[in-house]
Amino acid sequence: MPAAGGMPSGTFPSVRPRRLRTSAAMRRLVAQTRLHPADLILPVFVREGIDEPQPIGAMPGVVQHTIESLVAEAHRCVDAGLGGIMLFGVPLAKDAEGSGADDPEGILNVATRAVVDAVGDRLVVMTDLCLDEFTSHGHCGVLDAAGRVDNDATLQRYAAMGLAQAHAGAHVLGLSGMMDGQVGHVRAALDAEGFQDVVILAYTAKYTSGLYGPFREAVASSLVGDRAAYQQDPPNATEALRELAQDLAEGADIIMVKPAGPHLDIVAAVAAASPVPVAAYQISGEYSQIIAAADRGWIDRDRVMLESLIGIRRAGAQLILTYFALDAAALL
Ligand code: PBG
Repeated sequence: MPAAGGMPSGTFPSVRPRRLRTSAAMRRLVAQTRLHPADLILPVFVREGIDEPQPIGAMPGVVQHTIESLVAEAHRCVDAGLGGIMLFGVPLAKDAEGSGADDPEGILNVATRAVVDAVGDRLVVMTDLCLDEFTSHGHCGVLDAAGRVDNDATLQRYAAMGLAQAHAGAHVLGLSGMMDGQVGHVRAALDAEGFQDVVILAYTAKYTSGLYGPFREAVASSLVGDRAAYQQDPPNATEALRELAQDLAEGADIIMVKPAGPHLDIVAAVAAASPVPVAAYQISGEYSQIIAAADRGWIDRDRVMLESLIGIRRAGAQLILTYFALDAAALL
C-alpha cells in the first residue's frame, strides 16, 4: 500500500513532481508558459508644448515624451523586438468636445505620423481612441445637458477621432472608451473611407479601478468623480462575455481585458471564449505598486515584474500592454 499522501512504496512508482524542478535547465524544458518580447506592447505618453521629457511622479521610470524622445523610444522598441507601442496624447488645450482628438494637428495625430514615419512596419503602432485626454471635464465622451456621458453623441466623436488616427497612419486603434456600439461605429467609418486594413483593438472588459490613479497624472486628467457609469463594475464577471459577444459581432480584431492583475479570472474566461487574439493591460497602478514596494526594498523588482507578467500570460492573454515592456524584454 502506498503510504498516505502518495509517498513511495515498493509496489508503485513514486510520484514526485519535484523531479521536474531539479535544475534550471529542467525547469526551462517543462515551462508551459513563456514570455516573448513580441507579445509585449509598450504604452507611452507624448505631451504637447514641452522641450524635454517630463517625469511622471506616480510612475517612476515613465515619462511624458516630446515628439523627439518618443521617436527615440519607438526605435528602442524596434531594437528590443517588442510587438507594438500604444500612444497616448497629452494636449495643451482641452475643451468639452475634445476637439484636439480629431484635429490632424492634435498632439496624438502629429506624434502618430512621426512614429509611423520612423518605424514603418517594423513595429505595430497603436493609438488610444478615447476622448478623456482631450476633454476639459476628463470624461471619455461628450456630456448631455444633465452632465452625463452621452453614448451616441460620443460615437460620432469616436468615428471622427478614428479617421484622424487612420489618416495619421496608425495600424491599430485602441478603443478604450467603453461606449456601447463603439466598435461597429468606428469600423463603419473606417471602411467608408477605405481604411479596411486598420485593426480595431477593443477594450472589451474594462473595469472601473482605483489603479488608474497614476495614469491620471500621466495624462494630466481633469476628471472629477469616476467612470463607473460606463466602465464595468468589478463584482461582475458574466457581463464580460456579453461585451465580448458584442465586440466580436461588431468586428473587433483583437480584444482586451483591463486592468489585468485583479481580473485574471476574466482574462481566462474571455480567452477561453474568444476566437480573436486576447490582450491584457497591466495598468499604471499595477506598475507603480511594484515599483513602490521595490524602492522600499520590500520586494525584488525584476522578479515580481516577470512573475506578474507570466501570471497574465498563463491566465490566457496572448498580448500584454505593460510599462515594463522594455525592461522585461531586456531580461528575456
Ligand atoms: C482611457 C484610458 C485609461 C487608461 C487607458 N486608456 C484611463 C481610464 O480609463 O481611466 C488607463 C491606463 C493605465 O492606467 O495605465 N483613455
